Amino acid sequence: MKFKSFTAALAVVLMLIGVSATAEVTSLRGDTATDENNIAEHPRKNVEIDGGFGLNFTHQPPLIPHRIRGYKIDLKSNKCLQCHSWKTYRKYGATKISITHFENRDDQVLADVSPRRYFCLQCHVPQSDAAPIIENTFKSADKQ
Ligand code: HEC
Ligand code: HEC
Repeated sequence: MKFKSFTAALAVVLMLIGVSATAEVTSLRGDTATDENNIAEHPRKNVEIDGGFGLNFTHQPPLIPHRIRGYKIDLKSNKCLQCHSWKTYRKYGATKISITHFENRDDQVLADVSPRRYFCLQCHVPQSDAAPIIENTFKSADKQ
């Protein structure tokens, strides 16, 4: 008898621990179901911000000040390089990719864009005046 009620009590305690533990482990999305904040259902226009965003730290990839919808990057073609490569930037009035984009991880400068810089959107994102989805307390070093 005693043993039975002890195991029952233990089960309840374990359950409570389980409940509080899962309550603490939430994703950044919180308790919201994945389909509730589906971005595709709330299309947001990327806008060009007047004056653009300044850089907040050295070696920050600059934000993209133009729309990129439909710009394809795959094995055969890279739409971004059509305007940003050293061969073409003058023609399009675009900023040329910097020399760092030719360096491989061993600091060797290659003749063309380094594979690790090929997928531009890994680091560069378009500007947007959207409110942050998650509150962010980041301050740049000179504003601390
Ligand atoms: C049709 C030409 C064209 C294409 C394609 C293009 N860009 Fe641009 N991009 C420009 C021009 C022109 C500027 C300069 C605009 C300005 O300063 O207002 C620019 C500016 C930028 C900047 C800002 C550079 C700086 O120093 O602040 C970034 C970053 C950038 N583009 C990334 C990209 C990426 C990534 C892609 C592909 C997804 C891309 N661009 C595709 C023409 C293009
Ligand atoms: C691994 C991250 C990364 C990738 C991938 C990447 N960039 Fe960058 N980019 C940066 C950083 C960091 C800077 C600023 C410092 C520098 O020049 O290296 C930058 C700078 C730039 C600039 C401004 C150059 C200048 O002189 O001010 C342009 C334009 C640019 N990138 C375009 C591109 C394009 C186009 C691609 C794809 C072909 C690309 N980047 C891929 C990180 C990246």
